[in-house]
Amino acid sequence: MGMAVGAYVLQLIAADKTERFTLITDDINKPHITPQQYEVLHGGGAEAAEIAKERLSRRRFLRRSMLAVWGLSTTAAVSGSLYMLYPNLAGQFGSALNVGKKSDFPAAKPSDFKIDQAGVYYRQNAKTYLVHLSKDTPFLLSGSNLSDQLDAETVKKDTDGSYWIALYQRCVHLGCTVPFKDECVSFKCPCHGSHYNVDGEFLDGPAPRSLDRFSLSFNGGDVMVDTGTLNNKVPHPDATTRLIKVPTVQCSA
Ligand code: FES
Repeated sequence: MGMAVGAYVLQLIAADKTERFTLITDDINKPHITPQQYEVLHGGGAEAAEIAKERLSRRRFLRRSMLAVWGLSTTAAVSGSLYMLYPNLAGQFGSALNVGKKSDFPAAKPSDFKIDQAGVYYRQNAKTYLVHLSKDTPFLLSGSNLSDQLDAETVKKDTDGSYWIALYQRCVHLGCTVPFKDECVSFKCPCHGSHYNVDGEFLDGPAPRSLDRFSLSFNGGDVMVDTGTLNNKVPHPDATTRLIKVPTVQCSA
């Protein structure tokens, strides 16, 4: 009798463990069901099959939802990385910009420059001073010395014999915006006094080089400034490299 009772108790403990295990795995793998549904499910029959089907479709729905969320987050992460690597700057500073028609920028000799009227024009969207030197500009160099220096300073010769330069507005000393001063026909930085000629060549002050310049091209009658391509390697000029003579009128400040 004692043995039989002991065996019965052991059986109960084993059954309890199995049920607990089933309930635990149910908790992890299955959506929550009501006690009534649980009873019917474990009793079998058509109702149980219906509930099982419903649970299966719920599981499928959950799995698909999780896959969809994962897919969306992955797509967003990949798109973000691609944007960081290849930002779309079309039409913005950093890309090639159409700054206007050639006829918007009448050429002039350096001594006749006036901001936005003759020879030098500001275009805010490109952060650029567009310089248009007339074909009779008196350069200090000639022959291959002139053509080599024009190339080195990103000066573009047009088919009508005039010359174009796209100067970046930023002072190469510490980054202030440099205004063009009509009174002394040159660029003078208000921050620490760096002074540049009409073509951006260094004149005096703390700037370590001449003004930087963007690449410039023509598209039919339009002037294109590529604000993503900068020549920042034009050194202080000397007697063998200076293109334009130094202005004689002093700037007021
Ligand atoms: S920032 Fe122009 S001179 Fe210093």
